[in-house]
Amino acid sequence: MNIKINENFKNIKESYLFSDIAKKVKAYQEAHKDAKVIRLGIGDVTLPLPKIVSDAMVKAAHEMSVKETFRGYPPEYGYDFLKDAVSDYYKRNGIEVLSGDIFISDGAKSDLGNIVDILGDNDIYIPDPVYPVYVDSNLMSGRKIHLINGCKENNFLPMPDGLDCNGGVIYLCSPNNPTGALYNFEELTAWVNFALKTGSLIIYDSAYEAFINGDYPRSIYAIEGAKECAIEINSLSKVAGFTGTRCGWTVVPKSLMVGDVSLNKLWSRRQATKFNGVSYPVQRAAEAALSVEGMAECKKNIEYYMENAKMLSELFKEKNIYFTGGINSPYIWLKCPNNMSSWEFFDYLLEKANIVGTPGAGFGAAGEGYFRITSFGTHEATKEAVERLRKLL
Ligand code: MLT
Repeated sequence: MNIKINENFKNIKESYLFSDIAKKVKAYQEAHKDAKVIRLGIGDVTLPLPKIVSDAMVKAAHEMSVKETFRGYPPEYGYDFLKDAVSDYYKRNGIEVLSGDIFISDGAKSDLGNIVDILGDNDIYIPDPVYPVYVDSNLMSGRKIHLINGCKENNFLPMPDGLDCNGGVIYLCSPNNPTGALYNFEELTAWVNFALKTGSLIIYDSAYEAFINGDYPRSIYAIEGAKECAIEINSLSKVAGFTGTRCGWTVVPKSLMVGDVSLNKLWSRRQATKFNGVSYPVQRAAEAALSVEGMAECKKNIEYYMENAKMLSELFKEKNIYFTGGINSPYIWLKCPNNMSSWEFFDYLLEKANIVGTPGAGFGAAGEGYFRITSFGTHEATKEAVERLRKLL
């Protein structure tokens, strides 16, 4: 063909981390038909949707089959009933987020990738290791990326001290995927103050906030000044089991201004052009999940996963293996034993114990030598994995 392609795609890995893993596991399973492979790799949930959520979806689906209640195109920014439910969810956590600043999406990943559309050629600051979507989507747009090193010494919580930045876009994820490390109020305040001082924008991924137990910020808007420097992106995937249902939201406060241009207006314009909203039944399901009763059900599921996290953490303690996470996060981030590289340990676990995890190097160079295990499996699978790991490690 006689066209030009986006040359920036030459700068990203040929395949997305989780697609790579899926291919490897498929090949292994085909070659070892009897192997009972336990998948603790991608953070995909295993518990079904709470009944209150699926009931709301079914009811809405029926409404779609009746002339009087049928609905066509949804509003591209989300129905008011869901934006109000999101706003109320924040309110119950002591945070004010106005409904008009909320944009309903089909999940955090889309918006984390799409947000680059409204941003120009900025310097990009991304902690390493972290969810690969931030790096990949900025590479696709040809942005200059500065990685901020996370390591054992800073408890995988890099801070802005000493960062050479005259204004740029900073990505933060807390609790962090993959390490499970999370910023406390003081640390997050330091980031917000840094962003305000340097005129930077923070893109804050709060997809795992519902796993926070203690006194930690569950939203960047718990920090004073954040509405002048931060966009927050959240998802119902992990908290309400929506990985296959798809719904999330992005908060773009109207107070986010670049000169006289409002980022809220730019994002509205972008969504109106490129997005046609989330289906009505899914938005009703999301509304039910965010209700007080729905969230109580979701919390039971979170507790179930956190019991898995406990089983895994106890094993790693018993084996004297360094790890983070597993307390305010569904992920356990461990040091690969015997100085194995992340991918060596991946192969070793798959071959010797038929367990799939995620190599730390897939989350950035600083993740080399580490490994992520998810607690989103069933109790039965996690117990079996713990037994296999106890024998192997
Ligand atoms: C993960 O395993 O890191 C997540 O499930 C991936 C995602 O949320 O897209």
